[in-house]
Amino acid sequence: MLNDIQQILFSKEQIAERIKELGKTLSEDYAGKDPIFVCILKGSSLFFADLVREITVPINFDFMSISSYGDEFISTGQVKLLKDLDTPIENRHVVIVEDIVDTGTTLSYLIKNLEARAPASIKICTLLDKECRRKTDITPDYCGFKVGDHFVVGYGLDFENGYRHLPFVGVLKPEAYSK
Ligand code: IMP
Repeated sequence: MLNDIQQILFSKEQIAERIKELGKTLSEDYAGKDPIFVCILKGSSLFFADLVREITVPINFDFMSISSYGDEFISTGQVKLLKDLDTPIENRHVVIVEDIVDTGTTLSYLIKNLEARAPASIKICTLLDKECRRKTDITPDYCGFKVGDHFVVGYGLDFENGYRHLPFVGVLKPEAYSK
């Protein structure tokens, strides 16, 4: 499986270091605001678990699951809600925690969906930003790292539901997805 990785982009240590910084910033920005952090399953699960443990002010958290139709690489722009929040978010500050923002289609849908519930605010915190592929006006408010136009796996990110458990983020070799 490690043979399928072309290059490690962000090591376990680099990710941990960056998450510490994000946790510090978020703790400052959300002090006294009692926010809800929303984990978008399954990709952001590891990032979310590490991030919330770096937050030093009171927060709640909840989970959502969303599917994008299309193949592994090209989103068709159709999005479906598979699991909704358990918590009402009216008048609450919401932080969406994502693994990667690519075209921004998923987040556009999600933000529209959550805005209809009248939260006090919605911000996006993403581990990775693949800005070069954006097709919407989504801009993450908090970002771990920018990535180029590579297909990346590990630390929650998958290809055909595999590779999620790798402790680093790496570029998948093209041979691995043409197998
Ligand atoms: P978007 O709707 O095009 O922004 O796509 C966002 C979703 O596509 C992410 O939450 C991931 O699940 C998936 N995705 C986009 N790029 C990658 C990648 O390089 N590796 C793994 N999943 C990706």
